[in-house]
Amino acid sequence: MDASQGRVVLITGASSGIGRACAELLSARGHTVYATSRQPGADAPTAWKWLELDVTRDDSVQRAVDAVLAAEGRIDVVVNNAGYALAGALEDCSVEQARQQLDTNLLGVLRVCKAVLPSMRARKSGLFIHISSLGGAVGLPFQGLYSASKFALEGLTECLRIEVAPFGIEATLLQPGDVKTRLTENRVLASQAGPGSAYQVQFETALRTIEADERDGVPPEDVARRVLELLERGPVRVRYSVGKLVQRAALLAKWVLPSRTFEQLLMSLYGLSRS
Ligand SMILES: NC(=O)c1ccc[n+]([C@@H]2O[C@H](COP(=O)([O-])OP(=O)(O)OC[C@H]3O[C@@H](n4cnc5c(N)ncnc54)[C@H](OP(=O)(O)O)[C@@H]3O)[C@@H](O)[C@H]2O)c1
Repeated sequence: MDASQGRVVLITGASSGIGRACAELLSARGHTVYATSRQPGADAPTAWKWLELDVTRDDSVQRAVDAVLAAEGRIDVVVNNAGYALAGALEDCSVEQARQQLDTNLLGVLRVCKAVLPSMRARKSGLFIHISSLGGAVGLPFQGLYSASKFALEGLTECLRIEVAPFGIEATLLQPGDVKTRLTENRVLASQAGPGSAYQVQFETALRTIEADERDGVPPEDVARRVLELLERGPVRVRYSVGKLVQRAALLAKWVLPSRTFEQLLMSLYGLSRS
């Protein structure tokens, strides 16, 4: 792809936060942006186009992708961003909650990839930017299923890169640390969290830290700038990180520290103890 040319970009989950910031920046940069949401529309006029897309529904994904292809003839870049966070002790989450978390954060990405890939393969060109998380590299306590969804996304993307390389298609992961978005308000709590849970005290302690860190996170525009760089640069690496230096350093710490030392550090960050 020629970096000087405007790209046709499809962004999932663009009604707020990181997706919204990407839609604003990429369209301001001259790219043709299709921003998607489960409920688009009630917005002021924007420089980008809105489409309805629910990543948990095959028909919804296919309809949105077909609409972009009909209008533009191609999709150059997909920012697979839609997602939410389920929190609570693993034991307190229902299997149905787990299924929904994976359906959105993992299978949602797969659905979009499957719908877009035939056209990218035909053109021998395309780029997937997958919004992962530090939680895709480090298992975050009391965000176990969220972390699981992002670890799985990391594995999926590593494999996708290799499979689609012969077709001239690239894929990359972007791991943000804490970002100040509606993820905090939109968080879903484990169905059995609260009074009666054996984990109540530890969970509430961890949740206070999780929410405070997110409210103190970097603005979503920081992530959008990184997305823009990836979109306009040459070949992309497997993964990149964005966010506060101290959080990005945790990625390094995981590899250099003995595993129990790192675990202890993580627990202390969340105010947790073994007893
Ligand atoms: N905020 C952070 O600290 C942080 C850190 C690391 C990674 N991330 C990742 O960044 C991505 C964006 O999150 P955000 O922080 O910007 O949160 P956000 O402000 O809550 O935005 C989430 C977006 O996802 C969309 N979404 C949720 N479920 C969907 C579904 N089934 N189908 C289609 N869209 C759906 C929402 O759109 P509608 O409700 O309008 O459909 C919304 O636009 C997520 O993948 C998240 O895991 C966030």
